[in-house]
Amino acid sequence: MRIGIGNDHVAVEYKVEIKKYIEEKYGYEVINYGTDSSERFNYPVSGEAVANAVVSGQVDKGILICGTGVGIGLAANKVNGIRCVTCSEPYSALLSRQHNNTNVLSFGARVVGIELAKMIVDAWLTGEYEGGRHQVRIDMLKAIEEKQKEK
Ligand code: RB5
Repeated sequence: MRIGIGNDHVAVEYKVEIKKYIEEKYGYEVINYGTDSSERFNYPVSGEAVANAVVSGQVDKGILICGTGVGIGLAANKVNGIRCVTCSEPYSALLSRQHNNTNVLSFGARVVGIELAKMIVDAWLTGEYEGGRHQVRIDMLKAIEEKQKEK
């Protein structure tokens, strides 16, 4: 399993800690697409980079962190094929995997403490897509993307 991770200048420390946490706990390879500097860094850059890595298959899933998780998640969701959940508790993280087959997770370094962030990551990484009735809705999301391309 390969995870792409991205962040802006607000979330450098969270990125480092979450990357290490995933590598040590799960043994997954975590590839860094974010900034390592405290200089201002615009979140759409790493949001798009991780999203493209997921869609192209360079990585299996993506994790994005900015101040709120909102901006960087919005950037990811602009990329066709991305289903990014922005959340601040594990329940939505888990259900987003089981029902929505999310392929990117985002959260905010200014919103959740680091231990809660790890719980969110655990719920999201271990949650498995249930398919079945949920696939109809995933297909409908894809259809929205296709209609947008026609505009
Ligand atoms: C940066 O100041 C902040 O806007 C960014 O980290 C994020 O919260 C945006 O959604």
